[in-house]
Amino acid sequence: MFNSKVAGIGHYVPNNVYTNDDLTRFMDTSDEWITERTGIKERRYADRLTETTTTMAIEASKIAIQQAGTTAQEIDFIVFATLSPDYYFPGCGVLLQREMGMNEIGALDIRNQCSGFIYALSVADQFIKTGMYKNILVVGSEKHSFALDYSTRGRGVSVIFGDGAGAVVLQPSTDPKKGILSTHLHSDGAEAEKLAMYYPGSSAGLWLDEKPEWPEQELGGMLMTPEMLENGTAFPYMDGQAVFKKAVVKFPEVIQEALTKNNLTTQDINLLIPHQANLRISQFIQKTLKLSDQQVFNNIQKYGNTTAASVPIALSEAFLEGKIKEGNLVCLAAFGAGFTWGSTLIRW
Ligand code: ACO
Repeated sequence: MFNSKVAGIGHYVPNNVYTNDDLTRFMDTSDEWITERTGIKERRYADRLTETTTTMAIEASKIAIQQAGTTAQEIDFIVFATLSPDYYFPGCGVLLQREMGMNEIGALDIRNQCSGFIYALSVADQFIKTGMYKNILVVGSEKHSFALDYSTRGRGVSVIFGDGAGAVVLQPSTDPKKGILSTHLHSDGAEAEKLAMYYPGSSAGLWLDEKPEWPEQELGGMLMTPEMLENGTAFPYMDGQAVFKKAVVKFPEVIQEALTKNNLTTQDINLLIPHQANLRISQFIQKTLKLSDQQVFNNIQKYGNTTAASVPIALSEAFLEGKIKEGNLVCLAAFGAGFTWGSTLIRW
């Protein structure tokens, strides 16, 4: 059995910066409200016409691949996490494979929202451990800005999210004490509808308490209707308080689970990189686990919540800022829609 090590990391964020004040042009909100509730000061939005979830992923991947000392043609598997794919289907993995001129390798798309990158990393780790693949590209990328409601009706959700991409290359570690020590994945679907984008979907509202109005037709035509745009059900829904309550319990729990599994304590963590959901959630985790400011990395202030991209973007920035050194213990953790959550410990 091999350990997986992170051989290269890269990230890409679009050039367009939208500050909290910029958002007041579209909706009734304020810098004060957003900063106090979420810690976010600004976010990046992809170019509407020229940038997609896949194009951003390509930019991040190029850096990760180069840093790993490999080439796109030597990558032997892709795991791509996103909730905002270029197409409803096929997934982004194949678009990345095509655009980067890769061989006819396997490409797997992961749909686990905010914990997508941790799930993707865990899947890739299993393939490296068994020796099946030796050079896996793991990506998290999101273009949220194309599908959010920027009117006052959608402000509770839209101010939180931003666009961007991050990627890592996983390779087998020659040092058995280094690399990914373990990964821990969980889910609880009891509150699946509390953070969700219901359509396009096959449910016709089956699981919702309040049924939407549907056009009277026998077959087809229910993927997306004008009514959905009018009544707002075409956009993501979030019960913010339900998410907050669950996140502040599950984050510390899954971090502790990883530490216990490896006979380590919170004091052993050199850097915790939590999914950048909301600065208040990160601060809660820090307080619960009694971690110092130096032990926790946050960059949500600059990018908002970039869902599957948030952990790899933060990992890449922390690495570039010299906050991750050889031998350090790095903990990645995430919680999000589903609800799904997970963690991993990496000995750098
Ligand atoms: N600007 C101004 N006012 C707003 C905005 C906004 N952007 N959004 C909502 N409001 C208003 C509401 O309309 C409401 O007004 P009312 O009292 O007149 O009805 C008031 O502010 C309070 O709204 P709440 O939704 O109750 O605000 P709350 O204090 O719960 O804060 C928030 C909302 C920030 C979403 C909070 O619930 C939270 O932090 N939840 C965690 C969710 C989260 O972090 N999600 C991230 C994505 S999921 C993930 O990554 C895990």
